[in-house]
Amino acid sequence: MPQIFPPNANAFAKWAIIGGALFVGLLAVALVIYARTITYAVGVPVAQPVDYPHNLHVAQLGIDCRYCHTSVEVAASANVPATETCMTCHSQVRVGAPALQAVADSWSSGLPIEWNRVHNLPDYVYFNHSAHVNNGVGCSTCHGRIDQMTQIWKAEPMTMGWCLECHRAPERFVRPDTEVFNMAYTPPADQLTLGAELVAAYHIDTDKLPQCSTCHR
Ligand code: HEC
Ligand code: HEC
Ligand code: HEC
Ligand code: HEC
Ligand code: HEC
Repeated sequence: MPQIFPPNANAFAKWAIIGGALFVGLLAVALVIYARTITYAVGVPVAQPVDYPHNLHVAQLGIDCRYCHTSVEVAASANVPATETCMTCHSQVRVGAPALQAVADSWSSGLPIEWNRVHNLPDYVYFNHSAHVNNGVGCSTCHGRIDQMTQIWKAEPMTMGWCLECHRAPERFVRPDTEVFNMAYTPPADQLTLGAELVAAYHIDTDKLPQCSTCHR
């Protein structure tokens, strides 16, 4: 019977398998590295379709976070404002400014501005803003000095280990409820004493906090 495969076919098949396995391995490594750069990019300012300066609006104009992030105290999501919120002022202020062109376009077309997300947990993680904000966890503990940023960056890694650092010992971080929106808050020297009192006052369930089912449900 004539040979169907040439004599060197075995060698070829062997190298094809090794090459294929190497390729898949390298691809997996590349994907993991890529995923980490998106998920854990701490301190990298994120560019936006409108160069919206938080520092100017928050620190100089004194606008409260809740003016734009309206649901932060009542819902899981903090929500990013609609163009209408910008237009309450920018229908009169800086009309025609090049920096506001994309806002004007969105207003006339009715299409929302496509803001790029800075923070984005994987879908299998449950997070809830109101649970934190109503239990003495300040915006700046997780987001840093937003009042000093033009473009926003992630101030903390938002990894499971980072979440657990607080969920295992919330008394190290909680503050009086009057200070939650204070960007410049610094913890007092007796934080652990104050923190323990606040944890009791807020009825924070310290047994539940580190359990898997709190964040993975
Ligand atoms: C006048 C409206 C306005 C005010 C006031 C405002 N923000 Fe924002 N915020 C925005 C807009 C628009 C975006 C989306 C663009 C961006 O990320 O820069 C945003 C984005 C953010 C993000 C990033 C969201 C993401 O994609 O992960 C955080 C965090 C944030 N704001 C926190 C705050 C805090 C804290 C305050 C109060 C100190 C505040 N903001 C005040 C309009 C506002
Ligand atoms: C409460 C009023 C108010 C709201 C609401 C508001 N702004 Fe402003 N914004 C101002 C004022 C005042 C200035 C500064 C104008 C100046 O310096 O002449 C400004 C400046 C700006 C600038 C810089 C303009 C330039 O020419 O450099 C941008 C960009 C901007 N705002 C975007 C936005 C966006 C986007 C929103 C909605 C998410 C928004 N603003 C909401 C009042 C507001
Ligand atoms: C315990 C940490 C923590 C605190 C406190 C916190 N945030 Fe966030 N914030 C996050 C995380 C985590 C995300 C990403 C959520 C996701 O991807 O589902 C986020 C996302 C956001 C977003 C994007 C929209 C959204 O809900 O995904 C905005 C806007 C925001 N935060 C504003 C605020 C403001 C304003 C405060 C204070 C009133 C605040 N945050 C307090 C951790 C926190
Ligand atoms: C600085 C402290 C702190 C950090 C950081 C923090 N948490 Fe929390 N978390 C709390 C406190 C305090 C509560 C309120 C507990 C209670 O209601 O008894 C809470 C509650 C929760 C709840 C329960 C909400 C509910 O409705 O039952 C979830 C889910 C949660 N956190 C997820 C996260 C995730 C995910 C992260 C990281 C991305 C995170 N937290 C980071 C302090 C923190
Ligand atoms: C306070 C909130 C919180 C608690 C409690 C928590 N996780 Fe997570 N978990 C997260 C967050 C946020 C991520 C995604 C970010 C990351 O990969 O670090 C995550 C990611 C994971 C992943 C994916 C890991 C990876 O590297 O891709 C697994 C598996 C996991 N958690 C299992 C658990 C188990 C098991 C428990 C209980 C022992 C637990 N988690 C408790 C917040 C939490």
